[in-house]
Amino acid sequence: MSSEAVIEFYTQDIEHEWKRLSKDPYHKLEFDTTMHFLNKYLPKKGLILDAGGGPGRYTIALAQLGYEVVLFDLTPANLQFALKKIKRAKVQDQVRALELGSLVDLSRFPDNSFDAVLCLGGPISHILKHQERVKAVSELVRVAKQNAPLFVSVIGRLATLISELTLFPHEISLPLFPRLRDSGDYDGMSGFTACHFFLPEDLEALFADQPIQKVHMVGLEGLSSNHRRELNKLARFPERWKIWLETHFLTCTHPAAVGMSAHILFVGHKRPK
Ligand SMILES: C[S@@+](CC[C@H](N)C(=O)[O-])C[C@H]1O[C@@H](n2cnc3c(N)ncnc32)[C@H](O)[C@@H]1O
Repeated sequence: MSSEAVIEFYTQDIEHEWKRLSKDPYHKLEFDTTMHFLNKYLPKKGLILDAGGGPGRYTIALAQLGYEVVLFDLTPANLQFALKKIKRAKVQDQVRALELGSLVDLSRFPDNSFDAVLCLGGPISHILKHQERVKAVSELVRVAKQNAPLFVSVIGRLATLISELTLFPHEISLPLFPRLRDSGDYDGMSGFTACHFFLPEDLEALFADQPIQKVHMVGLEGLSSNHRRELNKLARFPERWKIWLETHFLTCTHPAAVGMSAHILFVGHKRPK
């Protein structure tokens, strides 16, 4: 699976990708939990790289908070779409550039350029060769300033195995299932493009040789993973919803909740080893 296939996938239905993080309380949980950790660890101001930023949800949210942002993505149509949304949100003065390219080569950005670096919602999961994932992470770290926070989220392997059970049981007897289970690699079926799905330790290992101090591993959907219907129903009951959200934030860094989460976030700071 090439970059062209990823571009084709993300060009097909940009509106769908734009709505991904807002379409229902379940999907919004990924966004709100990510924003919670961004708000906690971002410096008060500065220049942020939103790498693999797609149609620009986080770019716009951070620009609205007063940050300067560079949006970087592989898919040209995403950047064109993002530009419209950025103008509609009237934050174009905060968005310093929209840059087209792949995470494996950030050479247009000098070392130590950004006050924070984001790579959210799984762009690294779309890089299928391990060595290229290592290169992408080393690039993200290289362009971050000393002490800058990095936020990288990927798609979880265990949650994906559970969704095979609940949503695509016919795939369990196909060769793709043991391949996904044993390697995390998925060649693309059931309406999704090829991906590498992560165990938490795979994600942490990508940073092992980097000058990065880990702060958190977070299960962005945590205990709610694979319970979309139930969570969306709960959101209609404000009191229960409030308590469940409290429970989510109390448990989302527990290793079990991280391991089973649909999306897993790594938070770290660039520091000399
Ligand atoms: C699921 S979307 C996430 C978008 C956004 N970060 C969010 O969380 O809403 C994945 C994005 O990664 C981008 N992407 C995939 N492979 C990439 C690569 N090698 N370099 C840069 N971007 C990439 C895709 O074009 C797509 O916009």
